Amino acid sequence: MRMVDLIELKKNHGEFNEKQIQFIIDGYVKGDIPDYQVSALLMAICFTGLTTQETVLLTKAMAYSGEIMDFSQIDGVLVDKHSTGGVGDKTTLIIAPMVAACGAKIVKMSGRGLGHTGGTLDKLESIPGYCVFKKHKEIIDQVNEIGIALIGQTDDLVPADKKLYALRDVTGTVSCMPLIASSIMSKKIASGADTILLDVKYGQGAFMKTREEAIQLANLMIEIGKRCQKDTCAIISDMNQPLGKAIGNTLEVIEAIDTLRGNGPEDLEELCLEIASEMLLQAKLFTDKKKAVQALKNVIDQGEAYKKFKQVVIAQGGDVSYIENPRRFRRGSVMIKLASKKAGYIKKLDARILGIVTMKLGGGRLTKEDVIDHSVGIILNRKIGDHVQEDDILMVIYAHKKVEEEIITQLYQAIEIVEQKVEKPVYVEEILK
Ligand code: URA
Repeated sequence: MRMVDLIELKKNHGEFNEKQIQFIIDGYVKGDIPDYQVSALLMAICFTGLTTQETVLLTKAMAYSGEIMDFSQIDGVLVDKHSTGGVGDKTTLIIAPMVAACGAKIVKMSGRGLGHTGGTLDKLESIPGYCVFKKHKEIIDQVNEIGIALIGQTDDLVPADKKLYALRDVTGTVSCMPLIASSIMSKKIASGADTILLDVKYGQGAFMKTREEAIQLANLMIEIGKRCQKDTCAIISDMNQPLGKAIGNTLEVIEAIDTLRGNGPEDLEELCLEIASEMLLQAKLFTDKKKAVQALKNVIDQGEAYKKFKQVVIAQGGDVSYIENPRRFRRGSVMIKLASKKAGYIKKLDARILGIVTMKLGGGRLTKEDVIDHSVGIILNRKIGDHVQEDDILMVIYAHKKVEEEIITQLYQAIEIVEQKVEKPVYVEEILK
């Protein structure tokens, strides 16, 4: 088989079989097929697409390019979730302890943030001492004991995706639906859980700009999950504005703690309850959605979810005194308040711009090698649909150095205020199974 023939085949709208896909993935991971040929193939895929069958075969070949996690020694149903990424998305820190407090088992393997989107690993690492890497046996023991582990992906988890994603990032081939679906699902399949809940986001701060595209991506990933014998379902949610009020690693951990203690922002709490209740249904711990939601509200009200979060922080070496007293967390020492220039209703609060500003403050990475500052970020005082008076504080920026005028201008560009009343957006649009 020759790679050049496979590039030609795809360029001419041909369909790959299993052997051809295996040849490409094996050859690329081993280093036998060079980047320039894979780049050409990725671009051909962007223009001509992959069939569902090809996408399933690609996902499987990628998943099996490295280690498949074996968590069969964990007692009970192992649930997992994935968010397609966004700004202010700290749901894992809330949902994982909630479902564990209700009896589900969860090993959540997360990644780092890149560009305008944040990553759960960076958020966890803003807790002093927290260790995101653990040996396989330690993870199994921890989950059998306390029901939860929040860790990083190992180097050997889907090496094909690591190479392919890095190449897609520099060849303009990230935003291609079958490539996104196979990238996400290969990691989920290799992560070894029994069930997968996908939070597929759409809007300014998301990969998918429209609700229709998000539904298409969700359906494709559900189909891949089914064909890989994984119980998979998806929630479609809004990412036009950031989730919750906090953006930036430490600020988001503090907001997650508040939410676990029953004092979270409404949109964040609503999304967490939706996702977590679906996960409990998937785990067959409940058959009735309302009862699952009630059980989750109970573990918040009774402090069990908060206690579970403290247990996982302790088990992974974190200093729990920060969780008990969030004032201990270091925040950006330069505080800037952004005041409204007029009265009216907030119509736009562009998640992408706010994510980019947080990155520029030092809270995110432009390249994988960048070192981040956990303590910087933004607290939103108002969200879409809220009314403001002139001079009301719209948001507070936490930084460590003088914030340049250009950043302030950019922040004002993220906001649109209009005279007529604006309805609050629907946060959770749809559940697909
Ligand atoms: N997240 C992933 O893991 N992969 C993609 O391709 C896009 C988002």
